Amino acid sequence: CGIVGYIGNQDAKEILLKGLEKLEYRGYDSAGIAVINEAGVHLFKEKGRIAELRKIVDTEVSATVGIGHTRWATHGKPNKINAHPHQSASERFTIVHNGVIENYELLIEEFLSDVTFKSDTDTEVIVQLVEKFVNEGLEVKEAFRKTLSKLEGSYAIAMIDRHNKETIYVAKNKSPLLIGLGDGFNVVASDAMAMLQVTKEFVELMDKEMVIVSEDNVQILSLTGENVERKPFIAKLDASDIEKGTYPHYMLKEIDEQPIVIRKIVKEYSDNQGDLQIDQAIVDAVKAADRLYIVAAGTSYHAGMIGKNFFERLAKIPTEVHVASEFVYNTPLLTKKPLFIFISQSGETADSRAVLVKIKELGYNALTITNVPGSTLSREADHTLLLHAGPEIAVASTKAYTAQVAVLAILAQVVAKGKNIDTKIDLSRELSIVASAMETLCDHREDFEKMAREFLTDARNAFFIGRGLDYAVCLEGALKLKEISYIQAEGFAGGELKHGPIALIEDGTPVFALATQENVNLNIRGNVKEVVSRGANACIISMKGLEMKGDAFVLPEVHPILTPLISVIPLQFISYYAALHRGCDVDKPRNLAKSVTVE
Ligand code: G6P
Repeated sequence: CGIVGYIGNQDAKEILLKGLEKLEYRGYDSAGIAVINEAGVHLFKEKGRIAELRKIVDTEVSATVGIGHTRWATHGKPNKINAHPHQSASERFTIVHNGVIENYELLIEEFLSDVTFKSDTDTEVIVQLVEKFVNEGLEVKEAFRKTLSKLEGSYAIAMIDRHNKETIYVAKNKSPLLIGLGDGFNVVASDAMAMLQVTKEFVELMDKEMVIVSEDNVQILSLTGENVERKPFIAKLDASDIEKGTYPHYMLKEIDEQPIVIRKIVKEYSDNQGDLQIDQAIVDAVKAADRLYIVAAGTSYHAGMIGKNFFERLAKIPTEVHVASEFVYNTPLLTKKPLFIFISQSGETADSRAVLVKIKELGYNALTITNVPGSTLSREADHTLLLHAGPEIAVASTKAYTAQVAVLAILAQVVAKGKNIDTKIDLSRELSIVASAMETLCDHREDFEKMAREFLTDARNAFFIGRGLDYAVCLEGALKLKEISYIQAEGFAGGELKHGPIALIEDGTPVFALATQENVNLNIRGNVKEVVSRGANACIISMKGLEMKGDAFVLPEVHPILTPLISVIPLQFISYYAALHRGCDVDKPRNLAKSVTVE
């Protein structure tokens, strides 16, 4: 979900709506804004996109303070009633909230059994509690603080009071939130992107802090009431970085940016002599580990699977890859000197953060590989490696995935060098070959559009098969397709098909096969024969040098260990066009959000 707030001298509505549009990638089940002026609180909320909200906002209302929210539903259906902002019983207090209040039922039982709730959300409990404590005689600030002290779970909150146009009450715990500073105004945002339109100067908030924001002052307080001093930072983002320009969709733009990103990464991680380099403290931390534990979710998990190959094959360090949401409650036996590597585009994924918190409690070190400097996972880990991919806006990750794979390769290579292992790979050179190959593939988009049309137009389901590195890319290809086209898509290890999934093959079932690995080229082709003889419509994408008659597309040759960087590109395009042909909202697929800040 995304939060915005504005207090100052301009029209708050428009700034809030524009901010929400920038945050829409965080969730778009429903949206709302509330502003206050002399006449009282004006609340507008609607199911669906910000565009829907815009239609119902009364343009006549003029106000200079307000809050807004775009929602990814957790508690309560994604309907208008459950849309934020939420209000207290007397409608004096209005609140927006990200996160999950875990003890909300207990709080209702203990304090609010006499209150009639208007929504099914955990959020409403917060605002009802504030009102209750105010009715019992507390000042608003104290009531807010007392409420926060009762909450368990995660929250980023902005609250306004109908009786006080001079203040926004803000709080944060485990969900990202920033205060933006301006001349004669201040803003609140769960992501700097939302407010780049008005400021580049932001103050970070830490967990369990509350903030009293007025148009000319920002007071940060701990929950025990002490003042906290914190210097602002300047967001390095440029407002133009987050525009899609002439592209019809962010996803297409981001697919196209991949060659540039790979070149940028090589540059960022090279020294003056052009040798790859990584902060020595990070290299030492990886070298000292007896085992690496990669923890991630979604697409980043798939990049982690490739990373395992790099660390084991290049740097000779045993590596495990774990889905964050599983690891946190079912922690495997750990070795004596583990190092944890968190891979996260956003740096905010709550599932991954829960693992980070846990392993820090156990006293272990962590490295975060992320696209977002200053993100929660970056701040809380011991070390960070940045992806330098530029903002990724489309919900389906593309350039962040290839950036993750490239950074993991560089890390493994530099560590190998630090261990005096000769990998016999000139990685800078190989990555520049990859960048050129990516360009070639981007020029072939029409071929991939045709494949999408031929194989997926009427498809109910689709399978992706591969072995070794290709298997990990198949999981990613299947995830892309299901995320944005809603075709049921699954990735399988080629050899596993016959142990079950082959039962799903019917006449015409599309099966995409990757064949980029020499050692399993014949095996995967055998697997393709197995499905074709049962009626499948196979589409083989092979690597130059390994191609055979009938292959649908031959990828330009790159170093065999780097094939995941290019074999994924046809799959990204195929997903994109399949979604487009089916009339799906490519950048904002249903039920998903770009950055999921709840567990
Ligand atoms: C969400 C997105 C996925 C993404 C995953 C992990 O579920 O929809 O596309 O891969 O989060 O995100 P992260 O920011 O941690 O890489």
